[in-house]
Amino acid sequence: MLVTGIEILQDAHKNNYAVGAFNVNNMEIVQAIIEAAEELNSPVILQASQGGLKYAGVEYIAALGKVAAEKAKVPVALHLDHGTDFQQIMLCIRHGFSSVMIDGSQYELEENIAITKKVVEIAHAVGISVEAELGKIGGIEDDIVVDEREATFTDPMEAKLFVDKTKVDYLAIAVGTAHGVYKGEPKLDFDRIKAIKEAVNIPLVLHGSSGVPNDAIEKAVSLGINKINIDTDLRIAFTDAIKDFLKKDPDNIDPRKILGPGKEAMKEVIKEKMRLFGSAGRA
Ligand code: G3H
Ligand code: ZN
Repeated sequence: MLVTGIEILQDAHKNNYAVGAFNVNNMEIVQAIIEAAEELNSPVILQASQGGLKYAGVEYIAALGKVAAEKAKVPVALHLDHGTDFQQIMLCIRHGFSSVMIDGSQYELEENIAITKKVVEIAHAVGISVEAELGKIGGIEDDIVVDEREATFTDPMEAKLFVDKTKVDYLAIAVGTAHGVYKGEPKLDFDRIKAIKEAVNIPLVLHGSSGVPNDAIEKAVSLGINKINIDTDLRIAFTDAIKDFLKKDPDNIDPRKILGPGKEAMKEVIKEKMRLFGSAGRA
């Protein structure tokens, strides 16, 4: 069933676990996510970035997401990831997304508050929940590129002010993760996660979570992370499996045969993540 993001994340916040938010660009990814969630009885968030919407079209992603959610036996939210464009956020709401992210992290605090507040007012009026970002997460996420030197960690007191003023439902924080493939091992600032959670007391979101060691994810969840974004790990699983298949069977020309192993490989990764995040069995 299709539910709002806050319905899923409120339970995670209360019961101290995290829900995976997996990036979708095509039907195989959507199916892999829903099958994994049903097999493990886990709530789940399907999310599309602006790059994903540009690739597939908002109508296709919305239709795929809604059909998948309505058919699913577990709660599913359909979320816009890293929305930086006001009109596109409105378009997603009109097309039936049940959660949106307004990413105003490129602006100064006052402007980030103003644009987030505007989106929250409109989204809440039509029953849609909102994620915002405070601090700057480094790395590359589709069309958003943040140089590592420009990445800045979230300040707990600023986070409190931000949440009080905007009334945002869940907050993405910068605590040492980055988008894309890591060059070295990421070092998370656990004290900062704890301090932010104590200050804001709402669900917290960890971006750039692919490639973060399992023990660091477990600790981050125990300190208050409730939504964990995964894109890169799925891309790797998908393409590795397809490359492998074509190496073994280079003359195969059937897209179903070629994409099938990609889908299965993503499903296995998603199931591992759901167990790790603690969302398995929580639907
Ligand atoms: O918003 C999407 C995620 O933050 C993607 O992070 O590149 O580590 O998978 P990732
Ligand atoms: Zn992200």
